[in-house]
Amino acid sequence: MLLIKSPTLITASDTFKADILIEGEKIAMIGKKINAPDAQVINASGKLVFPGGVDPHTHFDLPMFGTVSSDDHYTGHKAAAFGGTTTVIDFVPQDEATLEASVAAWHAKAEGKAAIDFGFHMNVTRLTAGVEAEIPRLLDWGISTLKVFMAYNGRLRLQDGEIFQVLRIAKENGMLTMLHAENGDVIDVLVAEALATGHTQPVWHARTRPGWGAVEAVLRGCALAAQAEAPLYVVHMNTAGGVDQLAYARDRGLPVMGETCPQYLFFTEAHLAREDGAKWVASPPLRMVTDQQRLWRGLADGVLQTIGTDHCPFFFDGSTPIEYEGQQIAIPGKELGAHDFTKIPNGLPMVGDRLPVLWTFGVLAGRLTPNQFVALTSTNPAKIFGLYPRKGALLPGSDADLVIWDPEKVVEYGLAYAHHRTDYNLFEGWELTGFPEKVFLRGQLIVDQGRWLGKAGAGRFLERGTGEIL
Ligand code: URP
Ligand code: ZN
Ligand code: ZN
Repeated sequence: MLLIKSPTLITASDTFKADILIEGEKIAMIGKKINAPDAQVINASGKLVFPGGVDPHTHFDLPMFGTVSSDDHYTGHKAAAFGGTTTVIDFVPQDEATLEASVAAWHAKAEGKAAIDFGFHMNVTRLTAGVEAEIPRLLDWGISTLKVFMAYNGRLRLQDGEIFQVLRIAKENGMLTMLHAENGDVIDVLVAEALATGHTQPVWHARTRPGWGAVEAVLRGCALAAQAEAPLYVVHMNTAGGVDQLAYARDRGLPVMGETCPQYLFFTEAHLAREDGAKWVASPPLRMVTDQQRLWRGLADGVLQTIGTDHCPFFFDGSTPIEYEGQQIAIPGKELGAHDFTKIPNGLPMVGDRLPVLWTFGVLAGRLTPNQFVALTSTNPAKIFGLYPRKGALLPGSDADLVIWDPEKVVEYGLAYAHHRTDYNLFEGWELTGFPEKVFLRGQLIVDQGRWLGKAGAGRFLERGTGEIL
């Protein structure tokens, strides 16, 4: 038994002082002055306690552009834990002949590596009669969410009619469809034109993926969902207009939800124009300050429900090794696109940064309340993705996934604090106030004042069912 004494608890709805008693893997009791003489006591007076973060959007060990995302299901989990996240949901690519084989292949990658609890979403990127028939079986394997793409023509994209079909099948089976909303046809035309005229720098990644493409794609997705009478979750939203379209659909009672990510809140196209702009290449791309403002407002006013990360890191210079757990590691990365932005692997490191940067620049900056912070980064993703109240909650019976947060700790953030297996951090040198002090996974202390106590293989696969519509 473990007794956490006198912290301030922050949940999605309340802030109050109480003790927390943990028995085994679960929260046993929350109350004032809990008496548990046999318990080991942690004095957390002056500290905050949140439910462990739930990141609904990661890509570990993902093959792309002839390389692979540089965090695997161990290193990515470890980085997540250092930043206060104890649950992640990763996307299974539809790379094998059947969904079953694709899921098995992803389990094989995570096997023996997972260090925090994790679930899977299934990408549906080729829709055949066989796949349609197989989708409901995903539920037997604990997967209740499907991602479809309106972009990446010839690779991942489904046609609108196919997305409509997926939405209907998902709805019939109590599953949720997740949408990558960009206009693949326009992107193809603009990319060909850019390359033909010698525009090869990273900023052309954004210039060839216009914001209007995302705006119309969000509305198109909502309209398809309306016609299928199905719920929809739009991932990694990056435009003001996209948030407006989502608000339009929600105002009409449609069960549509939205996620954004820290990169869209803190960086703009100007970062892509830097000499090291490849570090920020991700899809969809970074946009403008006005987009950031609408995204923040969407988070505060409830149009957007979650902040995920879309964590998909690559080395900036994959020819130069870094030291990771005593080994020299180099994985080909952004340099693959040094002469052609279309060859820069898409994605960036974020899973460990999410809570620390959002606390300082979301909560302390007055953009989010502490309760909204917990709702957006833990409770809402747990609810939407069928994990609540096991995850995302400080309640008796919930998994004892907790973050003891030191609100006074000031750090100059960057590679020294982030534990992603890559050679750069997008927040290098940013001053943060407030940082995770101790992180517990099902009652086990896995991070203690910057020390890693977690273990590869200790993370558990989370079988998920139907979630909530928020
Ligand atoms: O650039 C990104 N985000 N890579 C991951 C794939 C996706 O669309 O989420
Ligand atoms: Zn996507
Ligand atoms: Zn993604």
